[in-house]
Amino acid sequence: MPGFEVFGKEEEQEIQDVLKTGVLFRYEFAAERQGVYKVRTFEEKFAAFCGASFAQAVTSGTAALKVALAALGVGPGDEVITQAFTFVATWEAILEVGATPVFAEVDATMNMDPANLETKISANTRCIIPVHMLGAQARIEEIVAIAQKYGIPVLEDTAQSAGGRYKGQHLGTFGACGTFSFDSVKTMTTGEGGMIITNDGELWRGMSEYHDHGHDHQANPGGRGGEKRRFVGSNYRMMEIQGAIGLAQLAKLDSVIIAGQKKNKAAFKEAAAVLPGVQFREIIDQDGDSATHLCFFLDSVEHCQRVNEVLAANGCAATYFGANSWHYYPRWEHLLDGKTISREGWPLTARGKRRFVYDPAALPQSAGFIERCLGFQIPVRMSDERLGQMRAALQQAARA
Ligand SMILES: Cc1ncc(COP(=O)(O)O)c(C=O)c1O
Repeated sequence: MPGFEVFGKEEEQEIQDVLKTGVLFRYEFAAERQGVYKVRTFEEKFAAFCGASFAQAVTSGTAALKVALAALGVGPGDEVITQAFTFVATWEAILEVGATPVFAEVDATMNMDPANLETKISANTRCIIPVHMLGAQARIEEIVAIAQKYGIPVLEDTAQSAGGRYKGQHLGTFGACGTFSFDSVKTMTTGEGGMIITNDGELWRGMSEYHDHGHDHQANPGGRGGEKRRFVGSNYRMMEIQGAIGLAQLAKLDSVIIAGQKKNKAAFKEAAAVLPGVQFREIIDQDGDSATHLCFFLDSVEHCQRVNEVLAANGCAATYFGANSWHYYPRWEHLLDGKTISREGWPLTARGKRRFVYDPAALPQSAGFIERCLGFQIPVRMSDERLGQMRAALQQAARA
């Protein structure tokens, strides 16, 4: 998963280009920057790589979600449907724009179950956010078809799956827009950072202006130039050094990072096949899997625990997602208990009343998958020695 494993000379060279000019900022300083526009170039290359018309760089994957939701016009009174298994950032962004997160079940893909999604749509639903978790596809064609039936835009949270595809088409390009994260553990990294891609020029202009305090970007698309602010914005601007790193990482994404992960994932999968009753996570298009993780289901919670104890004792612990308090709905105690930092309790409480209350037991289908699931993060680079250790640990765990 982590692009930081391959951080090297190429990234250093790109950063040097910026340091030589001394212009660390994406806008202005036309004379001083000597033609160096790293963030802008990164946006252009990222959009081209994904087959999208436009890309908007921002400060994080969370910012990408917030800017995209804001540009889609989502706000208080609106509901946004996402899934029971995702990183907290997905619903944090929904809360930040003042909307209400609604959670759909996940299925054997560990992503949104389209049939369950349809049961969650209400007259207030203004956006649907499927998440391509752990490197692999949600059932995106079915989800988009359902959303279209109700005229609701789809925002694909692709934070964990940069470079992933479905039937050859990049994840993030199926819905109205797709968001990405380049934080420390992502497939490609810029330290911190994020991106939104879209084919909709008007939506892109909204994102571009909103992320830059509402500056008018009409005269000079993707950049400043006009003086007619259309709305109040904020600041989520990416800096030039991040853009520089992104360019170097993007160039390695397919050929080095995903290729390395695919090779190592295949080896992990073969090794994990010795576990009795093991069922691998459903990947709806193996070719398009960015191969950041290998996940599998065992027959019970207890079996997962026994297996993972042996793996841990042998230096090869897997992640038990059922206990994961960052990614799994019943473990988000701060959301479930309505804890916020604001005096009044906003955005979970308003005028002394909880705006919405979540039942931790509301998503039994998701529990049936996530609480029987173990996962390994796949390295880009792996020694034969480490693979041997994994194989031996899994063989021992097969007897647990
Ligand atoms: C599914 C998902 N969405 C959004 C984010 C937010 O990204 P960032 O950490 O760059 O804000 C993450 C980060 O882990 C994520 O996994």
